[in-house]
Amino acid sequence: MCKLDWKKCSFLLCLGMSIICSAIYLRTRFVTKPKHLASPSDKPLSTECRAFLPHMEDGVKWYNHKGQVESYILNSCINCSNLIRDLHFITRPLSREEEDYPLAFIVTVHKELELFVRLLRAIYMPQNVYCIHVDAKAPWKYRAAVQKLVSCFNNTFLSSRSETVTYAGFSRLQADLNCMTELARSKVGWRKVVNLCGQDFPVKSNLELVQYMQIERWRDRNMTPGIKQPASMKHRTALQHIEIRGSHVALKGSGLKKGPPPHNLQVYFGTAYYALTRAFVDFVLESPIARDLLEWSKDTYSPDEHYWVTVNHIKEAPGSHIDGGWAGDIRAIKWRDQEGRVHNGCKGHYVRDICIYGANDLPWIIKRNSMFANKFESNTYPEALDCLEQWHRNKVLKQATVPIQQSWLLATQGNCNSYFNSSA
Ligand SMILES: *[C@@H]1O[C@H](CO)[C@@H](O)[C@H](O)[C@H]1NC(C)=O
Ligand SMILES: *[C@@H]1O[C@H](CO)[C@@H](O)[C@H](O)[C@H]1NC(C)=O
Repeated sequence: MCKLDWKKCSFLLCLGMSIICSAIYLRTRFVTKPKHLASPSDKPLSTECRAFLPHMEDGVKWYNHKGQVESYILNSCINCSNLIRDLHFITRPLSREEEDYPLAFIVTVHKELELFVRLLRAIYMPQNVYCIHVDAKAPWKYRAAVQKLVSCFNNTFLSSRSETVTYAGFSRLQADLNCMTELARSKVGWRKVVNLCGQDFPVKSNLELVQYMQIERWRDRNMTPGIKQPASMKHRTALQHIEIRGSHVALKGSGLKKGPPPHNLQVYFGTAYYALTRAFVDFVLESPIARDLLEWSKDTYSPDEHYWVTVNHIKEAPGSHIDGGWAGDIRAIKWRDQEGRVHNGCKGHYVRDICIYGANDLPWIIKRNSMFANKFESNTYPEALDCLEQWHRNKVLKQATVPIQQSWLLATQGNCNSYFNSSA
């Protein structure tokens, strides 16, 4: 066919593409138009869930739309204004307070598109900025879908360098640093950056995050929960390790010793999750001390669990928080070994000693009121996520100081007006 001259050929190609696009477009518009979302396979949210949704009136039916978010993105030739409306993204800053304190997010993902889309729409606000790191080992189709989605927003982008992230490996830290390099150049005037993974979900609303980060203790400080490296963790940084890309981290040889940390730094041990000021991020990227520590950390075990908290104990680091201990309520996690002390058991099930939440874990998560909760799986316990998502969006809209747009409502509701009337 391409024996035809070039112009005719590209015209035909274009025509063909348009027809296919229009056909798919019409089909998906039909299936995903908000009013058509409720289908016989949808079920009303359970009574357990309704107990957490105080704004709901009796007799109002709420439906979940399993799987449709994913198919929507994968199928359609994206028209962004429709996508933003149909997936219920919030399109205006909801208060002056939030507009004046933009946040940056780093989200590291590799699977479960549906979960990612729902996480993104829960944390998305137009004044913030989002760097998404898609694992280099993710299927191209997954990456393409994420790319399609983020291209609909001018404050959301894919990290231009992708790592093959290995559990406990340096690559995990490198993924965050790739995003930080790009966020440092962003023209959005973000004040703090937080990092998330694909199995997290927010508990606090954007307004509550902004308020929490500005309470006196945290206003100009970085949050990196952690303590002096305990003896039981010494092996992580005392011996040389090697990252088997995409698989695991192993000892190098039969226990080769590492040199001491540079600049006589005391090594700390903490969580891989943080809330950092912009000045601190610049320090991480530019200061020779931070860079030397980074270089030294390359052959350690799980460097993301010592790097941030150790740099945050360097006196010269902007916003450093010397001996802050475990303070900073970033994420609610149910660890198996904290059963009976911190929580009353996992109502879903444990994977690697961390609870995958079931719906009956929600009262604990809500009471705990951390910034985020981890972990969720939309396939194993769909109800837990559906319910938390609905609860979170209700709260977000209730706190808004601008008029609520119809498309920001998540659920298909028998009577959409009742929510507004009852919460006005
Ligand atoms: C997207 O769809 C809307 C209405 O459904 C239409 O007004 C708009 O022109 C479309 N945009 C593009 C780029 O096709
Ligand atoms: C995105 O677009 C909006 C509206 O056009 C504009 O106000 C905002 O500054 C833009 N944001 C970025 C990060 O470019």
